[in-house]
Amino acid sequence: MRSRRSFRHPVLLLILSLLASAGAALADTVMITGANSGIGLEFTRQYAAQGWTVIATHRRDQIPDTLKALADQYSNLRVERMDVTDQTQIEALADKLKGTPIDVLINNAGIATIGEFKGIGVDENQTLGTLNYDQFDLFIRTNVRGPIMISEAFLDHVKASKQKKIIAISSASGMVSAAPPRGGMYWYGMSKAALNKLMVTLSADVRAAGVIVAMFHPGAVRVEKFSELDWPGMEESPEAIGKMIKTISGLTLEDSGRFMQNDGKTQPW
Ligand SMILES: NC(=O)c1ccc[n+]([C@@H]2O[C@H](COP(=O)([O-])OP(=O)(O)OC[C@H]3O[C@@H](n4cnc5c(N)ncnc54)[C@H](OP(=O)(O)O)[C@@H]3O)[C@@H](O)[C@H]2O)c1
Repeated sequence: MRSRRSFRHPVLLLILSLLASAGAALADTVMITGANSGIGLEFTRQYAAQGWTVIATHRRDQIPDTLKALADQYSNLRVERMDVTDQTQIEALADKLKGTPIDVLINNAGIATIGEFKGIGVDENQTLGTLNYDQFDLFIRTNVRGPIMISEAFLDHVKASKQKKIIAISSASGMVSAAPPRGGMYWYGMSKAALNKLMVTLSADVRAAGVIVAMFHPGAVRVEKFSELDWPGMEESPEAIGKMIKTISGLTLEDSGRFMQNDGKTQPW
C-alpha cells in the first residue's frame, strides 16, 4: 500500500505540473483601458469568460461596481487604476507590472463629449459658432496622448509576450478622406484622426520587433449611454465586441497599421 502511494505521488505531481504549465501557456494576457463601462467592460467580460488573464483598468478613486462584480466572478481578472491622462499613474502601473507579458494591449478609454450627452452628433461645445476651446486639450490628452503614452510605457510588456498586439479603439469620426455626413463634433473627430496617425507611426517603429498595431472603428455600438438610441446599423455590445475579439485573434504582422471595422474589413480614413 505504502509503496503504491509513493509510486503515485511523483506521477501525479508530474501530471499536475504538466497541466499547470499547459494552463499557464493558454492564459494569454490582455490589458484594457477604460474597462468599467461600455466597450471596455464588454471586452473585459468576454476575455475573462474565455479564460484570459485580464488586467482591467479604470480612472476612478474606488473600484467601479461593474468591475468589482466581474472580479468577484473571475479569479483571472485583476483591476488596476490608471487615468490615461496621468503620466505618473501610467508609469507607476507599467513599473508595477514589470516582467508581466501583455499579449494584447487595448487602448479603449476615450471621450466623445464632455458634459451631458444630448444625442449622437449633438454637442454645442463641438459646434461651429459655439466651439468650446477649453475642451480641446482634454480631448487630446485623453484620446491621443493617453494611447501613445500607454503604448510606449507598456511596449516592453507587449514585446515580451507571444501575441505582441497593440490595439486602439478609434472611430470613423476621424475619417478625413471623405466629407462627414454632417458637421460638428470637431474635437472628437480630430482626436481620432490624430490617434490613427500616431498608431500608424507606431506600427512602423515596432514592426521589426514583431509588434502588431491596429486601429478599429468598432461600429455604432449600443453601450449603456446609448441604451435609448436606435441608430440604423447599430450593433449590440456583445456582438460588436465579440467580432473585434475574433478579428484581433487573427491579426498578423501583415495587418499592422490597418484601420478596420470590427469584422476586420478595411475602414477608410
Ligand atoms: N460606442 C460606440 O458606438 C463607439 C463608436 C466609435 C468609437 N467608440 C470608441 O470606443 C471607446 C469606448 O467608448 P464607449 O462607447 O464604450 O463609451 P463609454 O461607455 O463612455 O466608455 C468610455 C470609457 O473610457 C473611460 N475614460 C474616459 N476618460 C478616461 C481617462 N482619462 N482615463 C481612464 N479612463 C477614461 C471611461 O471612464 P469613466 O466611466 O470614469 O468616465 C469609460 O470607462 C472610445 O474610445 C470611443 O471613442 C465608441
